[in-house]
Amino acid sequence: MQIIIFDNTQDVAEHAALWVKELMLKKPGAVLGLATGSTPISLYQQLVSNHKAGLLSFKHTTTFNLDEYLGIAPNNSQSYRHFMNSNLFDHVDIDKNNTFLPTCNTGENPRVQGLAYEEKIKQAGGIDLQILGIGANGHIGFNEPTSSLASRTRIKTLTQQTLTDNARLFNADEFQPTLAMTMGIATILDAKYVLLMATGENKAQAVKDMVAGAVSAMCPASALQMHENTIVLLDKAAASQLADQEYYHWANDQNTKINQEFGLYHNY
Ligand code: F6R
Repeated sequence: MQIIIFDNTQDVAEHAALWVKELMLKKPGAVLGLATGSTPISLYQQLVSNHKAGLLSFKHTTTFNLDEYLGIAPNNSQSYRHFMNSNLFDHVDIDKNNTFLPTCNTGENPRVQGLAYEEKIKQAGGIDLQILGIGANGHIGFNEPTSSLASRTRIKTLTQQTLTDNARLFNADEFQPTLAMTMGIATILDAKYVLLMATGENKAQAVKDMVAGAVSAMCPASALQMHENTIVLLDKAAASQLADQEYYHWANDQNTKINQEFGLYHNY
């Protein structure tokens, strides 16, 4: 894991955008794995401004989102399809036919839908770069604690903590789904690169468990310790419980020199 600690959330977003941009410029047909939630919104704003400035095209990009609620129509403002349209897709030149979310409509079998999503990712050539946030309980996607580290796209029951954390996004009279389809942990680990963003003090414990805890289903993000190319972008608050911060800064100085000479990616 490469741990990079920034002074503030804006720097996290700007640096995340650099990673996405460099990949898209090197590989115009890149396959991106995308996340919803509060954390990546500022990254999507950066990507939209880059597109508007004529610096970035999504014409040949394919995207796969991590998750989608069950029992919510795509045009419902709480759906992750709606989130992606309004935060990114509506503002760039992406072909929406190439944007996928793991949906499961009423009457469809979630197991069949999960397998079909895995197959679609495979047919697209796999995910080049997966964007991730992290839950305060260490979840990635909606892989809640105790999720199998070998899990694939499937239906998941959300934990009470996740429901409480996300309740802020729902009006009192709005239906808050308790079930979601989500890529599994093994699906995420298949991505060639993973870029995890975490900001704010409420993520500090989860970040510590992910980086320095045991690899355990109790902290699904800790599975990223087994991934070859994971970059973790943190603001100071999210990094606040990490020991060895000096080491991360020092290692990042060395990596920056190598990146400046050879680029961020070693296999694109
Ligand atoms: C979103 C997702 C979740 C979020 C996580 C953090 O697609 O899969 O794992 O990344 O819950 O959410 P925020 O960024 O709202 O704190």
